[in-house]
This record gives sequence, C-alpha cells and structure tokens, in this order.
Amino acid sequence: MPRSIVAGNWKMNTTLETAARLAAGVAAGAGSVGGVELILCPPFVSLAAVRDAVSGSRVEVGAQNMHHEGSGAFTGEVSAEMLAGLCQYVILGHSERRQLFGETDESVNLKVRAALLAGLRPIVCVGETLEQREAGDAADVVEGQVLAGLTDVTDISDLVVAYEPVWAIGTGRAATPEIAQEIMGGAILDALRDLFGDAGEEVPLLYGGSVNAGNAGAFAEQANIHGGLVGGASLQADQFLEVAAAVVEAKG
Ligand code: 13P
Repeated sequence: MPRSIVAGNWKMNTTLETAARLAAGVAAGAGSVGGVELILCPPFVSLAAVRDAVSGSRVEVGAQNMHHEGSGAFTGEVSAEMLAGLCQYVILGHSERRQLFGETDESVNLKVRAALLAGLRPIVCVGETLEQREAGDAADVVEGQVLAGLTDVTDISDLVVAYEPVWAIGTGRAATPEIAQEIMGGAILDALRDLFGDAGEEVPLLYGGSVNAGNAGAFAEQANIHGGLVGGASLQADQFLEVAAAVVEAKG
C-alpha cells in the first residue's frame, strides 16, 4: 500500500513573513500527527524561508511549478536544479497552470522528466473540467493525461499523482468520495498499470478539490485514495493539521 501524504498548495498566497509563520505553525503541530507525510508548497520566493521554518521537523517542502530546462535565457523561470537545494517535491500540471498558463500534457511530461532527473519528487496533477464530465469523458480525459504526462518516465519510486477535478477546485463543491475513487481506482490506476505494471500500484494517489477537515477522512477511507492535495484549507496551520489527522485516522 502506498504511503499516506497530505500536501498543502498555497497557490499565490502568503508573504515571506506569513509563509514562515504558517510553516512554523504546521511544524509545531506535526509531531502529533504521525503516519502521514506532510508537504508544504509555498510560492517560490518563500521556499527558503519555509524550508528554514520546518527544519528539524518532519515537514517537507514543495514548489508549485518549474521550467523543464536546466538554465538559460528563460526570463522569470525557475529550473529543477534551482529547486533541488530548496525542496523535495514539485507540483506539476496543476489545472490552473493548464488553464491559465497554457500548459499541455507534453509540457507537463517534459517537466516531470526534468524534475526526476534533478532528484525532485513530482506531484503530477490531472483532472477533468465540468464540461468533460458532463459529456461522459472524465475517465478518458484523466487516463489520457496520466499516460501522456508520464510518457518515458521509468523510475516511479518518487512519483505522486493527484486527481483534482477542475469543477471541485476552490468551489467548495468537493467531488464525492465515490466519484473520486471511481476515477482514481479506475482510469488513473489503469494508466499507471499500463505504464509501469504492478509497480504502478505503489504510486501514492491524492485527491484534491475543496478538501477540508470535515471531508478528508471520507476520501481517505477509499481504497485508492492515499491522502489529499489541499488548497484553501492549507492556509491555516490548524486546519491543515486536522486534514492530516483525518487522513491518518481513515487509513488506520
Ligand atoms: P482547494 O482546496 O482550495 O479547492 O484547492 C485545491 C487545489 O487546487 C490544490 O492543488
């Protein structure tokens, strides 16, 4: 069974000062929530401060994006090599990056491979839009995103996949645990088995989209949901830790 993980995606929130304070709050409470990996993903500019704030605790750090090239004339971009000294994880292919910044399965794939080469663990995000779900295409869309995003990836020991239905993100309208399980234990697991055989079953799968302390346990009770990728509820240390505690309890 894959390990349990709760990751906080802070998106474009916090300042240097509030990021350090939030991270310190999570680190202070992390000792009381065992049995789940805790990852904080602040904006780039706060990665170093968050790394310092959680040092000595078991909390890990992730970035929210990166460029696939190692260095060069890419104004405003950040490479995997740069991140490798600052954090362990990187979120890739979040639907906001796909929708607002033109990312495609192909660019996500380049990033995943570059991240792994640099020793970062990618949290690869997939998920269908409301239109795709209503057209009955959710499973096909998600399966296609996993297959394309992970093309030519060979070492999957560092891989995490997050299912975030676009219609559930930031809307307060979470998917039901059954809907999430259907996609995660179906389309996503099928694609991982296609790509990696039985080893695909060891990839941790996170649900994301309006996760909070009240619903996290019901998601984590599902067989193929090993934790959460949390947006809004990760911006308060106590809420984030409550989500983690709910996942631990559900996973027994
Ligand atoms: P919310 O938890 O705010 O819906 O955000 C989910 C998300 O996009 C995490 O990556």
